Amino acid sequence: MSDIIKKDLHHSEIYLNLLEGNKQFVKDTLEIDSEYFTNLAKGQEPPILWIGCADSRVPANQITNTKPGEIFVHRNIANVVVHSDMNMLSVLDYAINILHVKHVIVTGHYGCGGILAAMSNRQFGLIDNWLSHIKDVYRLHAKELDQIADEVERSNRLVEYNVIEGVYNLCKTSIVQNAWLNGQLLGVHGWVYSLNTGKITDLKVSTYNSANMEDIFKFDSTDLKLSI
Ligand code: CO
Repeated sequence: MSDIIKKDLHHSEIYLNLLEGNKQFVKDTLEIDSEYFTNLAKGQEPPILWIGCADSRVPANQITNTKPGEIFVHRNIANVVVHSDMNMLSVLDYAINILHVKHVIVTGHYGCGGILAAMSNRQFGLIDNWLSHIKDVYRLHAKELDQIADEVERSNRLVEYNVIEGVYNLCKTSIVQNAWLNGQLLGVHGWVYSLNTGKITDLKVSTYNSANMEDIFKFDSTDLKLSI
């Protein structure tokens, strides 16, 4: 067999393995609970919205020991939360106003490639524009971050600040604030996952109202009768 054919077989094997894996998943799951899929298909009522990194090593369900149906998930490179991201806003709006989630959790992870790239001066292409949001976070904390000589330690701190900024940016949205104004019990939290230990650290920035928010970001109750 030529090397090219071997390479080709391996290439399709990676893809076909997933379909085989799915067959096994269905078989194993039905052995435990024959009604599993019929029950899950009835609808979802997840109490959690997870905003995490797209990194393949940080899957929301596995690392929290939860099952399909328990966490509504949005992931992007470096779990960036910015006000103008229609994708994130749509997920947030649906999660809060339709699914009525009780908690939104931004989960970053140490050793995040997006954070490391944002800390460098290298160009990576289109993604540089996305990572600029992380550079903005760096700028906000540059005084502290510049003083951390160890690069790993410095990137770890930036990972944490990026999560904290994400939590804050979520709280600034009209979606979260209207939930609070309407008396919905909603917590916004910041976590960091360690690839080295598998453990999650709660950054203790949980927010349940807009009390500590800077005034400029606070919204009054909805009044759509704008005088233009
Ligand atoms: Co990452």
